[in-house]
Amino acid sequence: TGKFTYDPGFLSTASCASAITYIDGDKGELLYRGYPIEQLAQNCDFLETSYLILNGELPDAEQKKDFDHQVTHHTMVNEQMHFFLRGFRRDAHPMAVLTGLVGGMSAFYHDSTDINNPMHRHISAIRLVAKMPTLVAMAYKFSQGQPFMYPQNDLSYTGNFLRMMFANPCEEYKVNDVVERALDRIFILHADHEQNASTSTVRLCGSSGTNPFAAIAAGVACLWGPAHGGANEACLNMLEEIQANGGVAKVGEFMEKVKDKSSGVKLMGFGHRVYKNYDPRAKLMQETCKEVLQALGLENDPLFKLSMELERIALEDDYFVQRKLYPNVDFYSGIVQRAIGIPTSLFTAIFALARTVGWIAQWNEMLSDPEFKIGRPRQLYTGHAKRDVVALDQR
Ligand code: CMC
Repeated sequence: TGKFTYDPGFLSTASCASAITYIDGDKGELLYRGYPIEQLAQNCDFLETSYLILNGELPDAEQKKDFDHQVTHHTMVNEQMHFFLRGFRRDAHPMAVLTGLVGGMSAFYHDSTDINNPMHRHISAIRLVAKMPTLVAMAYKFSQGQPFMYPQNDLSYTGNFLRMMFANPCEEYKVNDVVERALDRIFILHADHEQNASTSTVRLCGSSGTNPFAAIAAGVACLWGPAHGGANEACLNMLEEIQANGGVAKVGEFMEKVKDKSSGVKLMGFGHRVYKNYDPRAKLMQETCKEVLQALGLENDPLFKLSMELERIALEDDYFVQRKLYPNVDFYSGIVQRAIGIPTSLFTAIFALARTVGWIAQWNEMLSDPEFKIGRPRQLYTGHAKRDVVALDQR
């Protein structure tokens, strides 16, 4: 255009400088603050990873204890939030509910509007990370018509979430260690992913100076779409549909439909804007999937077999090879979540829960940046040249 670059979909425009997450899409490498995702998934829990993402360094034992304490002591939400939730239909999509609840929290924490005060930004970050599991579990319990389970602070972050989801006041609930570790790993793998659509949304929304709850609600809304966080739900629905139509025997037929562009059918859980090699998160997720299915006695899970077959065919097929389409994180995460007992419609809300720490770290980084400006993309105008209005009776 002469004045600015036209780059639809931001294929080659960096919208910010960031020191949080690094992706090498050709090598299939993902680092949080310099640490490989594989090592974090192996050695750290989600709160340790969250501390790293928020603060730039891994915590020492004392710092971890203090951070865990801060988060676990902000897990309750204002009782009024329960009344707000009750205004929704019980069959509302959890992402509709979550968008409302997260935005609604703005009404409770007036100090969060003071975004120029780093202490208030810190407390907002802790509140958001701490309360997301409570909100997601509340949305689930409400959809089931079951009583809400209040958080229990002596449990781990993920153990507490599982209890809020699956316990009821009538009986004892024991957190299953393998399930807890698997879900914690899902959280770690989804914690941040540099300038994806929802993170860019949080940054753009937050750049106007709005409060963090409003900015994160915008991120939740963006994540909902099937090309982004909604892919895990869409992927499991796809697997269930293939299974219902004949399973592994019909995989070839399904793949022909995917390759026929006029069908509009995509292989959900495949492809990525940045990864042009195997998504490292998908590798870890496939491992976790095997562990969980084995621990729960579900080794013969037909959907897992189906996804392995789809992957096998895709990795050998010219259509996928030429376009460098590999499984992404969402390809196996749905199977793990389903095995744990999480309903398909809640998958994207679990993604939002985990991504909240990344969103808030990116928002905080943006506000601390000396180069910070309100986000204001330009456009390529394609409308009419200047013209005069003709009076209504003469048109
Ligand atoms: N199935 C079939 N064809 C595909 C797929 C797929 N999953 N993904 C991309 N393609 C084709 C696409 O049609 C295009 O073909 P052609 O060059 O002939 O027009 C080519 O591959 C390049 O794809 P693109 O759509 O231009 O790539 P993009 O960077 O704009 O889109 C994507 C990336 C992730 C939106 C896309 O791959 C997709 O829709 N995948 C399925 C949804 C999905 O799994 N999303 C989760 C992403 S990872 C988690 C997250 O970030 O939320």
